[in-house]
Amino acid sequence: MTTPANPAALSQDALKTLVGQAALDYVLPGSIVGVGTGSTVNKFIDALASIKDRIQGAVSSSEASTARLRALGIPVLDASQVTSLPVYIDGADEIDLRGYMIKGGGAALTREKIVAALAERFICIVDASKQVQTLGAFPLPVEVIPMATAQIARRFAQLGGQARLRLKDGQPLVTDNGQHILDVTGLAINDPLGFESQVNQWPGLVTVGVFAHQKASLCLMGTASGVRRLEY
Ligand code: A5P
Repeated sequence: MTTPANPAALSQDALKTLVGQAALDYVLPGSIVGVGTGSTVNKFIDALASIKDRIQGAVSSSEASTARLRALGIPVLDASQVTSLPVYIDGADEIDLRGYMIKGGGAALTREKIVAALAERFICIVDASKQVQTLGAFPLPVEVIPMATAQIARRFAQLGGQARLRLKDGQPLVTDNGQHILDVTGLAINDPLGFESQVNQWPGLVTVGVFAHQKASLCLMGTASGVRRLEY
């Protein structure tokens, strides 16, 4: 456990900084790093800049992370240019006690799964507010092809969920892949592996934000007593 001078006084933002910096311990010299998306990963990207001369570069899961990496002078490779990555480092909206996650609050879930699939290890970086017993209190993000939106919303209703189209500036949010996002409330996901497998079969559904088949192998969790390292 890494313990800062006065962790009890740290804000959520400071805890994100702490885990973003702690993730540097898992970046191998000379390697290409898989980089996720979100405010916690932004802290990691900022920390990564301090060792940018010691890595080959990054594969990024979103246009936003790519822009931040490049602005800091970190080379960004296309996912199709690499066959494997030692680590993929990303945040989560929820993580349970087994390392299963809900992701996609930043709408990058599809590319996150693609980059994570290249990696030997998924290292999740979160503050302690993200840890849950059961996934589903955070509205579950689902990327959908627009013509399937109503059909998929009806399927979630049959499971007891309420799906809402995510908007941005009053219009449907358009992802980096040109698709839409549904946020689904009212679900308690007790069997993340089975749920992900089931929902992935629905026509028109691009990606569901349950990361169970690609769960975390390690979580760096920022807590009032420092960074906890949770292996799954
Ligand atoms: C992005 O699409 C998400 O999967 C993020 O990893 C998740 O929303 C966590 O983001 P924050 O670090 O901003 O909470």
